[in-house]
Amino acid sequence: MRKKIVAGNWKMNTTPAEGLELVKNVMAQSAEVCECVNFIVCPPFTHLSQVAEAAKGSRVAVGAQNCAAEAKGAYTGEVSAAMIASLGVEYVILGHSERREYYGETSETLNKKMAQAYANGLKPIYCVGERLEEREAERHFEVVKAQIEEDVFNLTEEQFADLVIAYEPVWAIGTGKTATAEQAEEIHAYIRTVLAEKFGEAAASTPILYGGSCKPSNAQEIFAKENVDGGLIGGAALKAEDFVAIGKGF
Ligand code: PGA
Repeated sequence: MRKKIVAGNWKMNTTPAEGLELVKNVMAQSAEVCECVNFIVCPPFTHLSQVAEAAKGSRVAVGAQNCAAEAKGAYTGEVSAAMIASLGVEYVILGHSERREYYGETSETLNKKMAQAYANGLKPIYCVGERLEEREAERHFEVVKAQIEEDVFNLTEEQFADLVIAYEPVWAIGTGKTATAEQAEEIHAYIRTVLAEKFGEAAASTPILYGGSCKPSNAQEIFAKENVDGGLIGGAALKAEDFVAIGKGF
């Protein structure tokens, strides 16, 4: 049985007070959702500590949205994996398309970030996904395969066991345009095949989340697919009711 995960990527939203209120509401309302669903919230760095503290001992786990590629030192503005882990945070989103696109994250940088995450006991939620023009040129399989080969194939078996993958087609992020359940299943199944080429049977246990305009009204149909193990939620994670309702989609 694979872990079922509903992860909220708050991006650059919420003040500390708003974030604290949001996580408290998620914690309270998640009581209505099957215990089999793992909720994760990923707030901005400014209130990661407070949110982690508030969620301690609850069923809601906490993740960061990024970590530095280096361990420590003269890297103004960066936040290390060790700093994040010291807060009791369990996960870190890496390779989100917004980071690849706006902050020039390459597979080389991501290799270093993955290494930092694992060295400090953080579990990466590694994002892959094609752009619109790549989908239109039917290059989506190739693009996603390369993203996996570049940053996942070098993991040890032990590291791989802690990995979560998020498939997020760039054309579906924040656009209101969702991949169909069939499109999601097709590429999730493909991702699992790619992972199995390298890691064999262990790939059957890797949670693969769908991301991109996932909301309460479409979660159920998408999560019903065999190789979709949950979602990485942006916009709809900012309202506790919607975020929790997505968890009822399993
Ligand atoms: P969205 O974002 O749900 O707002 O489309 C998803 C993501 O970028 O993780």
